[in-house]
Amino acid sequence: MEYIRQTIHSYKLYDIFTIPQSLRDKMVEVIILPIENIAEEESKREIQKGVKDFYDKTAKDWAETWYSDDTMLPLLKKFIGMFDATPRILDAGCGAGYESMRLANLGAEVVGIDISEESLNIARMENPNCRFELMDFKYIGDSLGVFDGIVSIGSIIHVENSDLQIVFDNFAGLTKSTGFLFIVFAEGDGYNEKKSIREIDGEKYNRATYHHLPERIIDVAHKAGFKYLDEWFIDEPFGQWRNFVFQKS
Ligand SMILES: C[S@@+](CC[C@H](N)C(=O)[O-])C[C@H]1O[C@@H](n2cnc3c(N)ncnc32)[C@H](O)[C@@H]1O
Repeated sequence: MEYIRQTIHSYKLYDIFTIPQSLRDKMVEVIILPIENIAEEESKREIQKGVKDFYDKTAKDWAETWYSDDTMLPLLKKFIGMFDATPRILDAGCGAGYESMRLANLGAEVVGIDISEESLNIARMENPNCRFELMDFKYIGDSLGVFDGIVSIGSIIHVENSDLQIVFDNFAGLTKSTGFLFIVFAEGDGYNEKKSIREIDGEKYNRATYHHLPERIIDVAHKAGFKYLDEWFIDEPFGQWRNFVFQKS
């Protein structure tokens, strides 16, 4: 390509018709390709804002809706009921902390992690009795200690297939032997463009959303050391959401 570019440059513009046809055909490649690259770059630049930005921007809205919405409460009650004593629970992808609040109200000692600082600010303000840390569940270290159980509601929708195993391995690493994992995910297969792209106040966000096949979740969890126990249901139909319960084995 570089050779062709240099050859073309060696012709003067007014010589254009003296350029051999074969070389003129190549010019199309040389000129059009970079234009396509530029278009791709521009569209990437247009959607610079990702998952964290989206949840920072909408943290208050999530809090306003979900602090007063008890949809998940029956399942959280059931989960906390599985432990003999007061459990230490990790709320992975806790957002603004409303399910952390419910878990704490049910008697659990709660640690919440999230990548959205704005969400965590609300979580901390609303729940001084819980601990919240800015942390990506793809890169959890060992600073949090171990947990009797992990709850992750609607958060692995932001984990692509290639990262699922690392997330479940991290969860397993933090769970005591025979501890439990309650995970809520959206059923489907892969990147969901419709659910991902959002425009707020004239700015475009890509809250990269991935749906997962139930059998893949079970397989990845199994490889991480969790055995599948059950699926729980909320009375009302709740879209593509699936609520799976695992136990570390
Ligand atoms: C759909 S919201 C769910 C929030 C809350 N768990 C609920 O029940 O509504 C997804 C949350 O996952 C968080 N999140 C996304 N990717 C994450 C990651 N890699 N590590 C930690 N949190 C993440 C987002 O910031 C957001 O707060």
